[in-house]
Amino acid sequence: FNVPKAVNEPVKSYAPNSPEKASVLSTYKEMWNSKIDLPLYIGSEEIRTGNTRNMTAPHDHKHVVGTYHLAEKKHIENAIANALESREAWANMAWEQRAAIFLKAAELIAGPYRAKINAATMIAQSKNIHQAEIDAACELIDFLRFNVEFMTQIYADQPKSSSDMWNRLEYRPLEGFVYAVTPFNFTAIAANLPASAAMMGNVVIWKPSDSQVFSAKIIIDIFKEAGVPDGVINVVFGDALMITDTVLASRDFAGIHFTGSTHVFKDIWAKIGTNIHHYKTYPRIVGETGGKDFIIAHPSANPKQVATGIVRGAFEFQGQKCSAASRAYIPQSLWPAVKEQLITDVKSMKMGSPEDFGNFITAVIHEGSFDKLASFIDQAKKDTDAEIIVGGNYDKSVGYFVEPTIIVTTNPKYTTMETELFGPVMTIFVYEDAHWAETLKLVDTTSEYALTGAVFSQDRYAIEEATTALQNAAGNFYINDKPTGAIVGMQPFGGARASGTNDKAGSALNLLRWASPRTIKETF
Ligand code: SER
Repeated sequence: FNVPKAVNEPVKSYAPNSPEKASVLSTYKEMWNSKIDLPLYIGSEEIRTGNTRNMTAPHDHKHVVGTYHLAEKKHIENAIANALESREAWANMAWEQRAAIFLKAAELIAGPYRAKINAATMIAQSKNIHQAEIDAACELIDFLRFNVEFMTQIYADQPKSSSDMWNRLEYRPLEGFVYAVTPFNFTAIAANLPASAAMMGNVVIWKPSDSQVFSAKIIIDIFKEAGVPDGVINVVFGDALMITDTVLASRDFAGIHFTGSTHVFKDIWAKIGTNIHHYKTYPRIVGETGGKDFIIAHPSANPKQVATGIVRGAFEFQGQKCSAASRAYIPQSLWPAVKEQLITDVKSMKMGSPEDFGNFITAVIHEGSFDKLASFIDQAKKDTDAEIIVGGNYDKSVGYFVEPTIIVTTNPKYTTMETELFGPVMTIFVYEDAHWAETLKLVDTTSEYALTGAVFSQDRYAIEEATTALQNAAGNFYINDKPTGAIVGMQPFGGARASGTNDKAGSALNLLRWASPRTIKETF
């Protein structure tokens, strides 16, 4: 099990006049006018159905970057047939060969395709360059490298044997195919969901989000160049319901690797239940869904640290992270200092196109998201138990721009304390210092989600109280840091309750879900 030691990919700085800045900007400009035409990838074929939808850029939504072709039911059935035909050779390929393919993919991204995947992420998801670099380059490379290492750790885990008896575990792939459903907000997650299942020897039908098709194309091209055989990962675009229903109707459906909304995941789970007698095997159901992620500060916390945690946790990536902080609980004694810092920090943020590297905030993903955020902001302007202390403006004339907005409420169950908004809106409740214990209970019971959360405190007893009281409230819990930015190999990521099945992305726990082990006992 001698594989190259996984190391986290260093984040490039894109400083003015740096070669990486020049390279990503020229790639961005070239792509901006490229009018890409994106086919389905089924088996060895690239299929253009003629029924197309436009890809646009969220920060300039009238600009058509390209078109992508939509599948019909017959294409999905064809993709399943191709995946199943490719299964035997792929499942039987020596694991070293599969590992080498994905390590090569990581190096292609680290080197020749870095500018391309970053530029596509900047255009189609409106990420600024630093966010694109962290996501589409570093996190994606890390997933590939570390998962290879985790795979070898899994294979090395073997039962005891004796001189006359050899027991072994064979970590075979699932019997059938895996369905990967991926979100718009992270290129790394979009790539990791099909890749982690494929790495373990599975064949995959991959349905990317409509807002993520551009990076999906670059990823599949890289995977193929690295050596993923035709038919192992099939990429389909189109009507999500039709695709899901067709996939779930197959007797060979063996698992789903999902990141997306809670209600879609629950609907899929229910459909799998309805079809259960039809399947050859019990499908693996792995999903990461929403979050209503919290920050709670104890009176002993450092106010500057708290304000930085809120600003970075809530507004980096336009708040479009399932891990983004979106509700905070601040003690009265710290509030004046925290409030002043928050207003100063938020006012200093520049908003605009990602092409200008000075912009911290860019556009939210689409009109639906923009309208939802605008309606909650408008409501907060009217409600007597809410006050907007900074931000609150929005404009969709060119792109879907929503200012980073902080609402302060006197009602701890105010609608934006409970509802996931998936955008740059933070709501704060100021509590009385003496009510620390009650506030911990509030944090635990206010939301149905349990993805990430953070406590800020300099008091070790308070840290312990929060860690215990909130043990089920977050799958990723941060002490004196923002609740975002999990690093592969360092903080395995995932949540429970309505946030998902907590099969930690970036860990052996996740990869194990894509294996169906056989125990072999041989007597001599
Ligand atoms: N893994 C990311 C984070 O931790 C969210 O998807 O912020």
